[in-house]
Amino acid sequence: MSLPAEPYVELPKHIYQKGVKHLCENGVTQVPQKYILPPQERPVSLVVNDCIHLPVIDFTQLQGMDRSRVLKVLSNACREFGFFQVVNHGIADEVIGKMIDVSKRFFELPFEERQRYMSNNLSQPVRYGTSFNQNNDGVFCWRDFLKLSCHPMQDFAPLWPSSPVDLREAVGEYSMKTRHLYERVMDAILESLGLTDEKVISKDGNQLVMVNCYPACPQPELTLGLPPHSDYGLLTLLLQDQVEGLQIQHNDRWVTVKPIPNSFVVNIGDQFEIFSNGRYKSVVHRVAVNSMRSRLSVASLHSVNENVTPSPKLIDYLNPKRYEDTNYADFLHYLTSSEFKCKRFLESRRIR
Ligand code: OGA
Ligand code: NI
Repeated sequence: MSLPAEPYVELPKHIYQKGVKHLCENGVTQVPQKYILPPQERPVSLVVNDCIHLPVIDFTQLQGMDRSRVLKVLSNACREFGFFQVVNHGIADEVIGKMIDVSKRFFELPFEERQRYMSNNLSQPVRYGTSFNQNNDGVFCWRDFLKLSCHPMQDFAPLWPSSPVDLREAVGEYSMKTRHLYERVMDAILESLGLTDEKVISKDGNQLVMVNCYPACPQPELTLGLPPHSDYGLLTLLLQDQVEGLQIQHNDRWVTVKPIPNSFVVNIGDQFEIFSNGRYKSVVHRVAVNSMRSRLSVASLHSVNENVTPSPKLIDYLNPKRYEDTNYADFLHYLTSSEFKCKRFLESRRIR
């Protein structure tokens, strides 16, 4: 016997624009219509979710005698998965712990306090928002976020939320440490491509710290925390709490990344796939939510403003230039132009 379908709740725009946390605080017990994906895009109907242990890079070994061996592991990871995890990275547990803790406390502030940073202007350097792109998304996703521009720090730190009182200090410390780690990881990635003296990719680009909050969801099978997308920039360093949720596309399946405590998940972004002329992959990933626990992640997104073009050293007879030159304006145009099915800017730059 099948039960009659419950009517799904329709929400007015001014409510869902306030975010998922706000909905949950107001006692939502089923996923409203606005968040329900068409059946073929829902998480369970796609493929069975298996767990995957991503290749692990021991940062201490990378910086030591074993560098050339670790570079090979790194290179394989970037080709095969577009993802790897970094352990023994030298960022103190305390710095990481404070960042997670202060982020949780930010999302627990009264809505009015969080709302001060709310904006649907994508180019605001500090922005509290919801979904993936709340201006364009037809179906909303089950995520709220706090976006913090971080570099140069003296320009942006005064704009970061003043509450909780220790937020600026924690973000300042965290963003400096992750930026340093990013630079060392980028050195290794360039070296693994044989591009040791490459000046083409400036490491002095943008850094965005994106704090993602995925509240526990009453019907996780109907929606997603983040839809399938690839990251726009060069490289992303992701810190996740101990709740699973990140899934990557690998051999046409969705696989769940098993979190390793206090490690970073690192992935190649679109800009780097272009720069590497397709050697290293910017892989599509998404976030599943769960009914038991809310989940928090902190992504440090590194990108450059200038034009990115495939490195001439990686173009030859057998490997013709695979992508159009690309800049941030193209990306913004793409983001605002339409609602896209899979959030993948890269496809629009590919030379066929
Ligand atoms: C992102 C992202 C994954 C996560 O912020 O681009 O993919 O687990 N986050 O939050
Ligand atoms: Ni992402």
